[in-house]
Amino acid sequence: KKVAILYGGRSVEHGVSVNSARNIFEFIDKKKFEPVPIGISTTGKWYLTDGVSKNVEKGQPLALLLDPAKPGFIILSSGDRFKVDIIFPVLHGTDGEDGSIQGMIKAMDLPMVGTSVLGSSMAMNKIVAKRLLKEAGLPVTNFMTFRYDQKDKISFNAIAKELGTPFMLKSASLGSSVGVSKVKTKNDFKNAVEEAFKYDDEMIAEEYISGREIECAVLGNYPPEASYPGEVVISKNYEFYTFDAKYVDPDAVRIDVPAKLPKAIAEKIRKASVKAFEALHCEDFSRIDLFLDKKGNIYINEINSIPGFTNSSMYPVMWKERGVSFPDLITRLLNLAQE
Ligand code: DAL
Ligand code: MG
Repeated sequence: KKVAILYGGRSVEHGVSVNSARNIFEFIDKKKFEPVPIGISTTGKWYLTDGVSKNVEKGQPLALLLDPAKPGFIILSSGDRFKVDIIFPVLHGTDGEDGSIQGMIKAMDLPMVGTSVLGSSMAMNKIVAKRLLKEAGLPVTNFMTFRYDQKDKISFNAIAKELGTPFMLKSASLGSSVGVSKVKTKNDFKNAVEEAFKYDDEMIAEEYISGREIECAVLGNYPPEASYPGEVVISKNYEFYTFDAKYVDPDAVRIDVPAKLPKAIAEKIRKASVKAFEALHCEDFSRIDLFLDKKGNIYINEINSIPGFTNSSMYPVMWKERGVSFPDLITRLLNLAQE
């Protein structure tokens, strides 16, 4: 079967997506599937590429990703067309993980890996996601939300009074810690607000949890299965798990899979992760990020409906620890897409 791997995209996570897709392309079981890499440029143009490439524009331009009259047919600018059987969006962030691409694929009635329109958009928006998690009885940190038109009225003191200091300021919908700041003092505040509103016209302020950063990989549907949790141990040079700590500085973090946790806490994390996955209508796969404080309380931080598959990403590592190899994991995802 032909698998279109969509990667790149207009989001600020473009480069992360290229690295994720490169691994999917490399490890897909080529006896069972034929990968067809389709790169989306930072300006949103589509190309059929030779392997997964950083320079997607070197590929052959597509006229139309999918022909509405003939679902599954991809049309090149040259007029040539070819059929694909499954779409695997390996896109992160805006215009890729937020339901927009998923809507297009759904309208074409093609099998797709991952969460559909509603779940994708709910998981991408930190404010909507948090409200739903809370409503499902899951533990989340205290938070306040702000719209861009309230920008001049937002004060450090008001947030500090409600959430304590430090607190986190985040753009409502992005991944890889873009638009996220830890605010300790009034001096940090103004820049943090500017940074958060750079990417979205909604912003969320959250209580800062001083504790451990835990992740849990969820796979499958009805019911999905949770991996054993993993831990991201961040070096003291970083205030939190920033973009640089994630992808730029190789010495910034150590990944502990499995995380060293008391059995009861690990079980609590796994149960909460499955519940969060279901609360947000996730499908096939998602990575749940949590905090664990010193008293043993857990908080769901967020849900990544298309988790990273880069060399420093936890999702495939957590499944490997459970005995699911990278190629088998991809095969399972592609089978789930066809169910
Ligand atoms: N948003 C990045 C890719 C992740 O959560 O893994
Ligand atoms: Mg995350």
